[in-house]
Amino acid sequence: MTAAHAEQVLAIYRFGIDGGDATFETAAPSWEVFDAARLAEHRFVALDGHGDGDGHGDGDGHGDGDGHGHGRVLGWAAVARVSDRCAYAGVVEHSVYVHPGARGRGVGAALLEALIASTERAGIWMIQSGIFPENTASLALHARAGFRVVGTRERIGRRDGRWRDVVLLERRSPTVG
Ligand SMILES: CC(C)(COP(=O)(O)OP(=O)(O)OC[C@H]1O[C@@H](n2cnc3c(N)ncnc32)[C@H](O)[C@@H]1OP(=O)(O)O)[C@@H](O)C(=O)NCCC(=O)NCCS
Repeated sequence: MTAAHAEQVLAIYRFGIDGGDATFETAAPSWEVFDAARLAEHRFVALDGHGDGDGHGDGDGHGDGDGHGHGRVLGWAAVARVSDRCAYAGVVEHSVYVHPGARGRGVGAALLEALIASTERAGIWMIQSGIFPENTASLALHARAGFRVVGTRERIGRRDGRWRDVVLLERRSPTVG
């Protein structure tokens, strides 16, 4: 994922936000804010592979990494550190968002797979995420990718004035450490 993908990445983020069950956020940030909050070395876009913007393709989840990735963005995944404390240096929190027109055909799973491989290669031992219990697609996606449910945090925050629970999920790398 590079600045060249910014507009499409934020548009896909906006679709997720507007769905109401993806995040506490109610508006997408600017690219500068998005970029500053996420680790540059562990962010991926899935591209349709055609470069003609027709939206078809398999979106294999491979990050282009070189700043020259062409094709329409089908989805993205990125991570942020959860803490500055050195005990948690290998703990990150991730987000994964797929364009509504590209859901249900393996894009999210491929993005998660790429993220897991990349973070493990870098020695990151824990990926975590908070997911609304209503977000059954995301819960299923993460269960399939090897995340476990730590527990449900009850009425932890408000979105649009309504208290929401959040299911905390984590994937402890079996290979790091
Ligand atoms: C959650 C999300 C990323 C899933 O991406 P996706 O590309 O549609 O998921 P995939 O096609 O890779 O599906 C992977 C697995 O997730 C599960 N899954 C995906 N969508 C599902 C749905 N609507 N209902 C039930 N299970 C679903 C399936 O088990 C699937 O495994 P299978 O192929 O073996 O059946 C996508 O729905 C999305 O972008 N939602 C809005 C943003 C969001 O909620 N992000 C997560 C924030 S925590």
